[in-house]
Amino acid sequence: MKRILLLECSPHQQRASGSQLARRLIAARWPRAELLERDLVGEPLPPLGADYAAALTSSTALDDSAFACSEALIAELEASDCLIIVTPMHNFAVPAALKLWIDYVLRLHRSFAATPAGKVGLLQDRPTLVLVSAGGFYQGPRARQADFLTAYLRHVLSTLGITEVAFVHLQGLAHGEASVQAALDDALPQLQRTTSFYFDCATEIAP
Ligand SMILES: Cc1cc2nc3c(=O)[nH]c(=O)nc-3n(C[C@H](O)[C@H](O)[C@H](O)COP(=O)(O)O)c2cc1C
Repeated sequence: MKRILLLECSPHQQRASGSQLARRLIAARWPRAELLERDLVGEPLPPLGADYAAALTSSTALDDSAFACSEALIAELEASDCLIIVTPMHNFAVPAALKLWIDYVLRLHRSFAATPAGKVGLLQDRPTLVLVSAGGFYQGPRARQADFLTAYLRHVLSTLGITEVAFVHLQGLAHGEASVQAALDDALPQLQRTTSFYFDCATEIAP
């Protein structure tokens, strides 16, 4: 593993449980990897402007200045061997900061093509880990709410061409300290399994 792109999407930034877990994972498993951090909250992307919206829906040249932000984000993704997304669930779905990143990165003729068979990703596949944090439960026996995040994000990534995706869920984080600890305890073996399988890496992650 040479270059990791870490997308931080939580308002709590590096204090978020998911972020801390991701950093422990990276330190344990890929200590020599180059880490490229994209903090979507600390350094917010500009809102979508009329020039970008117009360029996106017309036959504007790929190197037009309207695509500058989009191009930079796609180039960052292309330069990574591995993608790690740390995101909270907000209102059953991805938070606004991550949605904005998606709106810049998912781009016709650049990151996906429209074919008679549907949209086809133009980016190279790469191992991807998504760490989702939620106050409540949306999977398993305690699930009490809808989950529009997991399937949506998986679909977005596959539209880019990224299909080697593993999700690890930190649920019940708003249910007190014991619940947070239980979520972390639950996540660790999930991380061990998924990273060994997807990332071909056997180093233990310290609890
Ligand atoms: C705007 C907003 C919407 C939220 N919506 C949900 C939700 O739909 N389901 C849920 O379980 N938790 C929801 N939460 C709680 C967060 O998912 C929870 O606090 C989580 O631990 C945040 O993770 P973070 O520390 O990585 O930001 C919401 C929090 C905020 C601020």
